[in-house]
Amino acid sequence: MVRVPGDGWKRRLAVLALDRVEPLMYRKALLPPFSMRRFIGEARWDVGGSDFRNNGRHFAEKLHDAGLDACSRVLDIGSGCGRLAIPLTELLSAQGSYTGLELSPPLVQWCSEHLTPRYPNFRFVQCDLKNPLYNPAGAGDARTYTFPFQDGAFDLIVATSVFTHLLPEIALRYLHECARVLASGGRLFATFYFIDQTVQSRESSLRFEHAFGENARVDDLARPEAGIGFRLEWVLQQADKANLRLDPPVRFGTWSGRKDGYSGQDVLILHKKR
Ligand SMILES: C[S@@+](CC[C@H](N)C(=O)[O-])C[C@H]1O[C@@H](n2cnc3c(N)ncnc32)[C@H](O)[C@@H]1O
Repeated sequence: MVRVPGDGWKRRLAVLALDRVEPLMYRKALLPPFSMRRFIGEARWDVGGSDFRNNGRHFAEKLHDAGLDACSRVLDIGSGCGRLAIPLTELLSAQGSYTGLELSPPLVQWCSEHLTPRYPNFRFVQCDLKNPLYNPAGAGDARTYTFPFQDGAFDLIVATSVFTHLLPEIALRYLHECARVLASGGRLFATFYFIDQTVQSRESSLRFEHAFGENARVDDLARPEAGIGFRLEWVLQQADKANLRLDPPVRFGTWSGRKDGYSGQDVLILHKKR
């Protein structure tokens, strides 16, 4: 069982029970354990995984807006427990490829054991970085991390609900690394919380009440990685410095109370300048 930060013993017990019972109920489903789905932020007690599957399909379809085709070479940063990888097995052909880069060893292990044997063009790489929430036992420093891939190796990079957990210095480093490993003209599809948006929704538990440096805000100063929002202009300026330019428009999400959001979080599609 993967331990979810912040869960008390009663929740841990319930999650443990579901980790044991669910595989008996859904024998044939390609579904990661309940605790892993909670770990990557599936908030509801979604027994059977319909939210997990719907959210994965939602993002996989959106990737067509960033040029996904059957032959794309896709890098998924913070690939979690395969929420995107699973639907991409139906959209990528054997000529395409998928690489997941993820901090948490058990999630990488689950994906490697359950997906790679069936889809050999899908591989999962663990990055041994320290993160107080996602990988407390890790060793490396994400602020200086070099992705273990060659320059120009990917056509499309995806980061769903990942920059929303990266401290500003790490986000900068990751923008530069994304640009390096993207092929010329390739695209980055990344989600954010842009704090310039007025939060109107009462449903959203995010308020970003505390400033975190000049360009970011968080809800919990003790655990900034739990959810971090950036100023849109700052992200676009830093992306530009990294050689990544916006494919307009900025695709605002529903998290801030918009009714007509593109997705839950705000989305940028950036292309690597030629
Ligand atoms: C909210 S989850 C989203 C997972 C996945 N992208 C999805 O949409 O299902 C964030 C994921 O990013 C990973 N992560 C956090 N910091 C990271 C980093 N510096 N490098 C790579 N992965 C990271 C976490 O371990 C976690 O699995």
